[in-house]
Amino acid sequence: MTLPQTYDIRRTYDWNYEHAPAHPPVLEVPPCPGRWDFCGLVAVNSPLGVPAGPLLNSRWILHYAALGYDVLTYKTVRSSRRDSYDLPNLLPVETGALTGEGGTVTEAESSNSWAISFGMPSRDPHVWRDDIGRARKGLRQGQVLVVSVVASPQPGWTMEQVAEDFAICARWAAESGAQAVEANLSCPNVCTQEADLYLSAEASGLIAATVRQAIGRVPLALKVGLFARRELAEAVVAAISPYADALSTTNSITATVRPRDGSGLLFGGLRRGVGGAAITTRCLEETRMLGEAIRASRTRRAGPARRGSASRPDGHRRHAGPAARHPHPPGAMKPLPES
Ligand SMILES: Cc1cc2nc3c(=O)[nH]c(=O)nc-3n(C[C@H](O)[C@H](O)[C@H](O)COP(=O)(O)O)c2cc1C
Repeated sequence: MTLPQTYDIRRTYDWNYEHAPAHPPVLEVPPCPGRWDFCGLVAVNSPLGVPAGPLLNSRWILHYAALGYDVLTYKTVRSSRRDSYDLPNLLPVETGALTGEGGTVTEAESSNSWAISFGMPSRDPHVWRDDIGRARKGLRQGQVLVVSVVASPQPGWTMEQVAEDFAICARWAAESGAQAVEANLSCPNVCTQEADLYLSAEASGLIAATVRQAIGRVPLALKVGLFARRELAEAVVAAISPYADALSTTNSITATVRPRDGSGLLFGGLRRGVGGAAITTRCLEETRMLGEAIRASRTRRAGPARRGSASRPDGHRRHAGPAARHPHPPGAMKPLPES
């Protein structure tokens, strides 16, 4: 049996972009029993999804759609072209469970954990806008296309300009066929302003409000990284709740990377986001913590006068989608209270 094509970590981002699977595999995908929805907003065939990452373009999206994935995230795009970092972009690493930021991991021959180092490359907007249209056209009923977007701040930009740049990408994505937009507020592998916006409740709220205005009722998820303190997570949840439909967590956990021979550090000594088995336990805890923060925010927003009223529980049931029925894998969507 031939295994389906996957991202080739020995090759560049450009190579993998150009050598995307030409034809989706023809497979009989068994149905996933139950009724499923994405963020309580879009009906889907199953809760199986792929976060922003290996789906670089429509051919990759349609390849995974044919394999039975139903929530498909188009890798992060920008308002202007950006090249990828040099290889390695995805480096297998050896480590025990990572419980917080700033550890050190070691390069491995192969592993189920990896250091991620792309720098969020993007094709020109006219390229990705056309391509999103192709991805959407190729999906079946019950499959949802999420497009991940990020701002590309220039020196001296205000936070309003950063938010506007997010909003332009989000609007283009929605116009091109995205059924949901994910604004990436956390990228541990870039050193510029877009790296850890989620740590500011004020910036997160402004971006969520500006993007919401740009995309109307299209579902909006915000992708975040690890919160060191629950109070900060609560402040962010409060700031974005009126505008966002979901949180997507956890981007990754950062660490420095030692080469196999133990000499010095890779990536110029800078930390890289680690994903995979090493972060699963910590990310599940983070998802539970965010779930509690969301529920607490919902209760506060309902207020004593409204608690127990018939409309609140019914209204919130529309967010009881896949996320509420399953433990959340890293990268899964966590519905926010109704706005
Ligand atoms: C090949 C690859 C590329 C990625 N690119 C992006 C990206 O463009 N935008 C983003 O928000 N996250 C990106 N990520 C991070 C993933 O979306 C995810 O948050 C991370 O891998 C942690 O989840 P995991 O432990 O299931 O891998 C990428 C991950 C991988 C493996």
